[in-house]
Amino acid sequence: MKKIIVTGGAGYIGSHTVVALAEAGYLPVVIDNFANSDEGVIGRIQSIIEKEVSVHKIDCTDESAVKEAIEKEGDIAGIIHFAAHKAVSISVERPLAYYRNNVGALISVMKSVQSLENFSFVFSSSATVYGQPDSLPVSENSPFKLAESPYGRTKQICESIITDVIASGLLMKAVTLRYFNPIGAHPSGRIGELPRGKPENLIPYLTQTAVGKRTQLTVFGDDYDTPDGTCIRDYIHVVDLARAHVLALDWMSVQCHSSFNEVFNVGSGYGTSVLDAIRAFEKATGISLNYRIGDRRIGDVAVSYADVSKAKRCLGYFTRLSLEDAMRDAYNWQLKLNCFSR
Ligand code: UD1
Repeated sequence: MKKIIVTGGAGYIGSHTVVALAEAGYLPVVIDNFANSDEGVIGRIQSIIEKEVSVHKIDCTDESAVKEAIEKEGDIAGIIHFAAHKAVSISVERPLAYYRNNVGALISVMKSVQSLENFSFVFSSSATVYGQPDSLPVSENSPFKLAESPYGRTKQICESIITDVIASGLLMKAVTLRYFNPIGAHPSGRIGELPRGKPENLIPYLTQTAVGKRTQLTVFGDDYDTPDGTCIRDYIHVVDLARAHVLALDWMSVQCHSSFNEVFNVGSGYGTSVLDAIRAFEKATGISLNYRIGDRRIGDVAVSYADVSKAKRCLGYFTRLSLEDAMRDAYNWQLKLNCFSR
């Protein structure tokens, strides 16, 4: 069984990826400081996969602690590096904390694995690196645009660091996955997104409104140049996204080149407007959502959806779950959230 370290393995995408890895026959090992996640997630992951998961409670910016954990685990085939702050608005208020954490963690993790042979490095990036793209769907060749936030800039910087490190020959095999809009939760309802405080992202705000935790969802603008005037995004079920990491590792292990640095978009390939997303939620759950149209949100791009042809061609990636599946699972997770201690 190949052992894979998952930094941020207790987080939203990380926890689903730990499950996907275990189900695919890998041995996931979690490194997490639980700063923005709940330690109870580990027990719930274990209950899904019916196996123990090795966990190291450490901060990825602590290089010696990361090295020690990796040495203790021995014989590691790869690492998936998720651990990062991700709240766009907080990154605007506290840019230094974001640079220190997101860039610092990447450097410390790369330094800790750079001497390992035949090692696969997978980095968790975001479509945010494209900013407002010139053409749609957005392909991996689209240039980086001015980032909308320090958070977005940390992803651009991290990708550039990986490029430089591979070019230097210090690390051999790297894949960067650029996620579009991950939504939904595990169908078991045991793991999902845990937004702290008022959610910034559409789906957690929507599900909290549906259960009465928020009174009303505001649709940020209906005067965009889109068919219904609301922004268009590429929503992908987090379980499909998690599987893309497994496909990436499988693909990396059969490449004959000893050194590469590949980037893949991971989305559904479809654009969905905010109003379409609300309709899909209502259809999936039978709930009529209380929403209103408000002003545009600063920093929002009008339309973004992925060209996923490269991931399809190389990784054999395709989505299995629909937008309505994601809405049903997100709602189910929201209903079960109150049962878990936080
Ligand atoms: C945001 C981040 C992106 C990050 C991603 C993580 C920005 C500019 N981008 O993407 O960097 O990687 O989250 O998932 O913040 N919306 C509403 N009402 C709400 C919330 C959102 O109408 O209460 C709309 C937004 O205007 C947008 C769409 O829903 O059109 C999706 O928003 P959101 O879930 O926040 O994701 P992004 O902004 O696409």
